[in-house]
Parts: sequence; structure tokens; C-alpha cells
Amino acid sequence: MREPSFNEESSFQYKKGKLFCEDTSISQIADEIGTPLYLYSHRALVSNYERLKGTFRRLSPLICYSLKANANLALCRILAGLGAGADILSGGELYKALLAGFPPKRIVFAGVGKTRQELEFALREEIFMFNVESQGELELLEELSRELDGRIRVSLRINPDIDPETHPYITTGLRENKFGLEMDEAEQLYLKLKDSKNIVPKGIHFHLGSQITTTRPYLICVEKMGKFISRLRGEGVNLEYMDMGGGFGIAYREKESPLDIEELASQIAPLIQEYELKLIMEPGRYLVANAGIMVTQILYEKRRKEKKFLIVDAGMNDLIRPALYGAYHEIKKIQEPKKASPMELVDVVGPVCESTDFLAKDRSLPRSQRGEYLAIMDAGAYGFSMASSYNARLLPPEVLVRGEKWTLIRRREGYSDLTKTEATSLEEENLIPSYPLPFAKLQGSGNDFIVVDNRANLIKDGRSLAMKLCPRKTGIGADGLLLLEESQGADFKMRIFNPDGSEAEMCGNGARCIAQFAYLKGIVGRRCRFETLAGIISCQIQGRQGRKVKIGMEEPQDLRLNLRLSLKGEIYEGHYLNTGVPHFVLFTPRVDQVPLKELAPSIRNHPKFRPQGTNVDFVEVEKGSALKVRTYERGVEEETLACGTGAVASALTSNLTCGIPSPVRVKMKGGDLFVYFERAKDNSFSQVFLEGEARLIFEGKISEEVENA
Ligand code: LLP
Repeated sequence: MREPSFNEESSFQYKKGKLFCEDTSISQIADEIGTPLYLYSHRALVSNYERLKGTFRRLSPLICYSLKANANLALCRILAGLGAGADILSGGELYKALLAGFPPKRIVFAGVGKTRQELEFALREEIFMFNVESQGELELLEELSRELDGRIRVSLRINPDIDPETHPYITTGLRENKFGLEMDEAEQLYLKLKDSKNIVPKGIHFHLGSQITTTRPYLICVEKMGKFISRLRGEGVNLEYMDMGGGFGIAYREKESPLDIEELASQIAPLIQEYELKLIMEPGRYLVANAGIMVTQILYEKRRKEKKFLIVDAGMNDLIRPALYGAYHEIKKIQEPKKASPMELVDVVGPVCESTDFLAKDRSLPRSQRGEYLAIMDAGAYGFSMASSYNARLLPPEVLVRGEKWTLIRRREGYSDLTKTEATSLEEENLIPSYPLPFAKLQGSGNDFIVVDNRANLIKDGRSLAMKLCPRKTGIGADGLLLLEESQGADFKMRIFNPDGSEAEMCGNGARCIAQFAYLKGIVGRRCRFETLAGIISCQIQGRQGRKVKIGMEEPQDLRLNLRLSLKGEIYEGHYLNTGVPHFVLFTPRVDQVPLKELAPSIRNHPKFRPQGTNVDFVEVEKGSALKVRTYERGVEEETLACGTGAVASALTSNLTCGIPSPVRVKMKGGDLFVYFERAKDNSFSQVFLEGEARLIFEGKISEEVENA
């Protein structure tokens, strides 16, 4: 039997005449769930990872598993659990990597065609490294990073023009390949990055190709990159990381030898140490290829003069490597062949209507017949991950074996899966949205809202919908309905309806919620401007899931400090300020003890503030310069959980009177708000922003009956 490509007994062995995966009979699984199927050995996966880690121990590299080889969640979870990081190529792989539990701080992102949305997603998740492949991508990152607080780490992917001595379709580090940047170009970009405020050049990246079985190309490249890095250091660009990509080859054939990773480690270690670099690697195939097989059944035999065809139930759509690269996969019978069984020359072909649909050509196999199972070996990498539904074939199931136990880690597709993303009726083909209408429920500082994307103008009467949906017993329950609509001059328009059907001009908590909603739905980026009845609002969206939203506020007007009011024979001193609406701010040592109910209404209606009246804020300055604030709101005519304009009025007056600097943290019952501002010498304020949290609570659908009721 062929040597396994790692230093241990293979996880796939014959026992009592049958092929086993670990301690489980493969034919039993095939009998139970049918074929074709993919099957993986837990033990092989873990030992591949441990062996690689052990071999490179002295360099303690960050091993980022390349999800493109096999992104099954169960396998990813195992690797994440062993401490691996992830190498991703798309938003979809990022999504799966996060779901599998790879920490963002161990995720690296390569790829020549990352879209704006994918970059934004990765920025939002604060991944470890962007492996940038072109000047255009770097410019886009620079643009996106301006909207962020933090700095982002990049490596430039170099195309070192080195022949990896592998199949031409899987070389990536030659000049003729689309990948990476030429060294001169990269050098210029690194130098430019010295002046970047937001982008930090952290490392260098290369990936020479896949299925590389000699150490030489790696060694040449590490030497070349080491020199390049020291030249850059001389020019003031201090790179810490060398990401050597993946490509570690395995033995697909009996006589082949895999890449000698021990030799590789001992050859590159002195260089990595000499240049004082931290090493990153991105193995895909090495970790999963020989941990997986595909099992198929012989449907028919067909004899020609020259050879025989074994027609099996797995096709090129299930395993495309032979068709695409002429790749060789060893084939084993599940029933162990007798020593003396005659050999015959066969093509193992699938049911797909293509002549390239083969799994093996001119292969000498022990005689086999209809109904028998065959194992296509070393199919764990680039097997399922490259499978498709060509010919409307159903994607096969995947099984994980551990000892005597096996688990279905992906079910077989059914016919209905083939149409689940397609329009199945003419009505659905019509792209105009219709009932049931999606909505989201969000909350900000204790106010909750129903938010609906109404850009298609399906909701004609926001008033009556608000009256139906806001009640907590008969509707969804909310403090208001927010409609996101098209705008001429801004990114979108916000309309806000109260539970009684009246339309409000503006609401700070609502504005934060609709901004987060627009961001989550991909309608806006991290900076946007939206229209309200009170004018255009500018907005910055930050944090995970866009939960921190900062809203531009109007510059305050009518400041009057140290106003004295006499009320029922007592004098109350405070400060008046209009922050969009009028506020009177009183400082007090213990805000919890203020008899707000008795005091606030008479201040609100005091003759000094007639005719429009004022909101009233009681402010306690805490140690560490946070403010604790309670607000009585005009219109609501009682104390509310939080008030944005009140937070701003409290922060600005406390800056003027007690010197509390921006940003001021304002604690209100509904949550904390932060007020940012700039103060000029003449005591006027500009760049006033209010920041607070907004949270998506749930999403659902509004049925048509609600609108028509
Ligand atoms: N890093 C980068 C940037 C890559 O592009 C790749 C693979 C890897 C890491 C992982 O390479 P590995 O260690 O698995 O060789 N479908 C082909 C292989 C394509 C490899 C694409 N890039 C096949 O079936 O042979």
C-alpha cells in the first residue's frame, strides 16, 4: 500500500477485507446515506495540523488555514479549536470563518478582486491583515480607512516571478500570473504608505502556487524577500511579518514524495531569524487533502475494444480536479481486492454530459463490477469546495468520522435546494418588493423603532401603518415607525411617525437606529447624510455591526449663562441654550434626589421662556468628568429615558462652566451618550456630534392584512 503523506499510519486502511476510515466501515456509511459522498477523518485532520505546527515550532508561525481548500464549518471549527487562523478570499469565506470561530485577529485576506463591500465587511470585523494585490485596492482601502478610528494593517502581495515547478494552472507567483505586485511597484507603494495616517505596512506576502513538492522555490523566495525587507527597512519601512502563503504539496501517487516540510523549516528558519521576522503560512491542501475521500458507486460497465468504462455516480461536478487539471487521484475499491485478482485498464467516468467528465483515465484497477463502491483518495482539498450543480446535479453530503462514530456534517441536497434562490413564479420574477414586507426592530437609548425600507414606495400611508404597528398588544410594539425613503440630495430620507400617527420632524435615537439599519442593509457606508424634516443630518457609523452611531448636531444658539429664575420664592440658577430645541440646564450635586416632577413643569413654563417654553435638564458632574443627566421633555411633558439635544446642552454648558473637555460622557437612564465638539476662543461651538448605541433587535415580515385592515 502507498505510504501516507504524513509520518503516521493512514486513517484509511483495509480491515477484514473492507476499507475503513479510522474505526468505521466506509461501506456501512455508503449503504446508509447513499453515494456519492465525501468523508473526512478527524484524526488525519488533527495530526496534519499538529505535525505542521510541531515542525515549525521554533518559528512559532501563525498558521492560517486556507478556507478555499475546504470551507466545511465542522472542519473549520476543528482547526479553529486547535488554534489555527484563517486565510480567506471572499466575503463568503470571511462569513464562514467567523461562524466557525476563527478569531478576527487571526484572519488574513488575500485576493486580486476584493470588492468594496468585502473590504468594508473585513474592516468592520477588524481582521488581522489585508494582503493587498494592487495599487487600486490600496487606494480603495485608504479611502475606506479614513472613515475608521483605528489603523489597519496591510501586507503587499509580491509577485516574485519564481517558478514553483508545479502544474501551470496552479502557479501564482510568475510574472504572467495575475497575482500580486511587481517588486518595484511594491517598493514605491511601501514608501508612500510611510505617510499614510490610517494604513500601517506590517508585512510582506507571497504565494507561489499550489501542490509544490520541492523546497527550492520557497527558499529562493524567502531569500529574495528577506533582502527586499532589509532594503525597505533601510528606507524607513519596518515590516514585521513574512507571509509565505501555502502550496505545500502532498503525494497523490504512490511513487511521489510530498513536500519535505522538515527540510523546508530548517532551510528557512535561519533566514526568518536573521531578518527578525514573524512567520505566517497559509496551508490549505496540506491540512485537508489526505484527510478526505470521495465515495462513489459503479452504475454501469461499458466495454470497448481498447478499454472499459466504469460509469460511476460521481461526476466532474462533484470532483473537478481530474477534468480541470488532469489531476491524479488514487482509486481504491472499498471491498479489498484479492491478491490474485486480475487487473484491467479502465476509464472511470461520471454521468455528466462532457467528455472531460472523468475521475481516472487509462487506469489499471483490479477488476470491478456494477454496484461496487470506489474510494477516490486524497479528495479532502479542492473537492467539495469546487463542486457545482452542473446538470442540475445535487451536491453530495459530507461525513466526519471520529473513531467508531460518524456524523453527517452536510446533508445531501434535495431537488428543492436546486430552486431555493430562483424565482419560481412570474410574480416573484417581478422585482418590485411586495407583501409580506420585511421590517427590522431596533432600539437606541431606550427608544424602540420599527424600521422599513420603503424606497420602492410600497407604504403609501405611514400614519395609519404606525397606528397599527406601534401598539404593544395588537401590533409589533414600538415608540415609532421609521420609513427609509429615496432622497434627491442625500443618501436617503428618514420619515418618523409616532404611535398616534403624527409625523415628527426628527428624533436623535430614531436617527441613530435608521442609520445603523441603512448600514446593515448595505444602503450606505460608514459615513452618510440623510434627509429629515428638520434638515440634512450627517452621520458616522462605527463599531461592530455599526452599533456606534455619531450624528452631526446643529450649532447651538442663544446661549445665556447664569440665568436666575425665581420660583415660589426660591432662586434657581442655570444656563439656557438652544441645541435644536430650547434647554435650561441646572447643575446639582445629587441628580437622583432632585424633585423633578414638582420642579421641572414650573421651569418649563416660566415667563422667561415664553412663548415656546423650554426643556429642563438636571446635571450632576461625576468624578472622572462624566455627567449624569435627567431630562424633562417639553411635548412629552414628563421625564424621558434619554434626550439627545439635552445631552448636548448639558455637555456644552458643563464645558463652559466646569471646563469638562470633549468628548463628554453623558449618562442617562436609557444609556450612555457621548458629545463631541470644538470650542472657539469666543466660546462658540462647532463640529458638534452626538454618539450613542443603536441595536438591531429582530427582523420579521409584515403581512398584507395589516396594511389593509
Ligand atoms: N494562500 C493563497 C493566497 C492561495 O491562493 C492559496 C491557494 C493558498 C494559500 C492555499 O494553497 P494550498 O496550500 O492549498 O496549496 N484548485 C487547485 C488549487 C488552487 C489553489 C488556489 N490558491 C487544485 O485543486 O489543485
